[in-house]
Amino acid sequence: MGREITSVGVVGLGTMGAGIAQIALLAGSEVVGREVGDELNERARGRIEHFLGRAVEKGKLAAAERDAALGRLRTTTEVGELADCDLVIEAIVEELDAKRELFAELDRVCAPDAILATNTSALSVTEIAEATERPERVIGMHFFNPAPLLPLVEIVRTGRSKESAVDAAYAWAERAGKQPVRCNDTPGFIVNRILIPLLNDCVSVLDGAGVSPEDLDKAMTNGAGWPMGPCALIDLIGIDIHVHASEALWGKLGEPRMGPPERLVAMQADGKLGRKSGEGFYRYE
Ligand SMILES: NC(=O)c1ccc[n+]([C@@H]2O[C@H](COP(=O)([O-])OP(=O)(O)OC[C@H]3O[C@@H](n4cnc5c(N)ncnc54)[C@H](O)[C@@H]3O)[C@@H](O)[C@H]2O)c1
Repeated sequence: MGREITSVGVVGLGTMGAGIAQIALLAGSEVVGREVGDELNERARGRIEHFLGRAVEKGKLAAAERDAALGRLRTTTEVGELADCDLVIEAIVEELDAKRELFAELDRVCAPDAILATNTSALSVTEIAEATERPERVIGMHFFNPAPLLPLVEIVRTGRSKESAVDAAYAWAERAGKQPVRCNDTPGFIVNRILIPLLNDCVSVLDGAGVSPEDLDKAMTNGAGWPMGPCALIDLIGIDIHVHASEALWGKLGEPRMGPPERLVAMQADGKLGRKSGEGFYRYE
């Protein structure tokens, strides 16, 4: 039996990390967030305050609960401040060397039975775990963007992860109101392994069958019951994020349909990145 998870460290408070910290705060955990600079810490705190404030305005959260949640958040630039965390979730840049360096440091600082988790989308959890002396307590916890809104968390076990670490992370994710699922450390885990080639197929049908993005989305929502059409979904994910994820999966598994379609590569080069840039398959105000 591992220790119960009451304090959570989040390293990297960017798009994903700030959202994960927010989830952990609302789950009642004490949270220590670590960024590389004070300004980045303050920016993340501001984002979390903003979103919790919106939840209060919408009547989804009591003002007292917001205040209590924010009171549980401590930010730091020192890895040493994570020493007492039961679970540390890493959400820094998607670079193997940076993650391995951080995990080696966390391994030195954190209690031997603390669980170290990576939110990597495309790197090998096994290779990250091997940077530590405790690979049995290293797992993947793959959240989806935006983390506070999307319920799924893929709990990824390597060949060396202890089931007790996987179970403890699974139980914490459930307590945080998430829908965790377990899987082995394989390229793309579950959702990206299926969704990336599938979306690429959708893009090839645009040109292959002479279909407009509007009609393709109409076809998949009305004919296959998709809640959102593939072109609208790629715009939401971001063309650059999807191209990058396709390249990563293609590099690992080599199936041609995993490679990014030329049309998306061209859109990325034109700065048409989807919703965030104001134009992708569709235009946004
Ligand atoms: N954005 C997504 O849709 C998404 C979804 C699931 C998983 N992920 C994964 O989550 C991770 C983070 O992605 P993101 O989109 O939040 O990136 P991001 O660039 O928004 O945030 C990364 C943050 O980490 C900080 N950072 C870098 N090195 C650090 C270190 N050593 N210690 C502390 N902070 C450090 C940076 O200052 C930055 O604020 C990546 O591994 C990514 O693959 C991203």
